[in-house]
Amino acid sequence: MPPVLMSDEGVPVTQVDRAIHAAVEVRDEHTAAHGLQVARLSEALGRAIALEDDEVDALREAAHIHDVGKIGIPDHVLLKPSPLSAHEWEIMKSHSILGARIVAAQSSPHWQELRASTGIVHAIRHHHERFDGLGYPDGLAGEAIPLWSRIILIADCYDALTETRAYRPSLSHDAAMAVMGDERGRVSDPELFDVFARTIESSSWRATAAGRGAEL
Ligand SMILES: [Fe+2]
Repeated sequence: MPPVLMSDEGVPVTQVDRAIHAAVEVRDEHTAAHGLQVARLSEALGRAIALEDDEVDALREAAHIHDVGKIGIPDHVLLKPSPLSAHEWEIMKSHSILGARIVAAQSSPHWQELRASTGIVHAIRHHHERFDGLGYPDGLAGEAIPLWSRIILIADCYDALTETRAYRPSLSHDAAMAVMGDERGRVSDPELFDVFARTIESSSWRATAAGRGAEL
């Protein structure tokens, strides 16, 4: 079994993962930084629900590269500094399918030994499925959505709300949790959200009153 490498941030990665991470960084630094933070938050939630260590490892990998499909989104959509039009949004939404295809194409022995590659592919494909079935790309609902996808969605929402976007300032921790609380059971898995709400309070990844700082 190849050695598990550690990224600069202490996140275990394989050589293949390094290539994927590097590709995302070259394409879009924002997506790369977001992926790292979603990996941290997903790991925290995965541990809070007592996933096995190897599941947490695979979940963290999936979370880290969940938006890798954005490599295939054209610049005028991916890097647009304002809200997307309906047509542009449809293009952007294809990133979950593209990401699953990219990850499915790799065949790292390490991932096979983790028996996680299939889970990672599904986790990435479905990370924008909503609990009420109104998400994409397949409109899955409730527990038909892979568990790792439901975890990543919560981490993704929290990080997206608490970071500054080009077209809006960041929300504070409390404001972000209020938004997510309103969407509990519609967007997020309600039981998972409740665990996240408890876990994030004592987490080092909890955003401040001013949102997420520039340290990330
Ligand atoms: Fe995404």
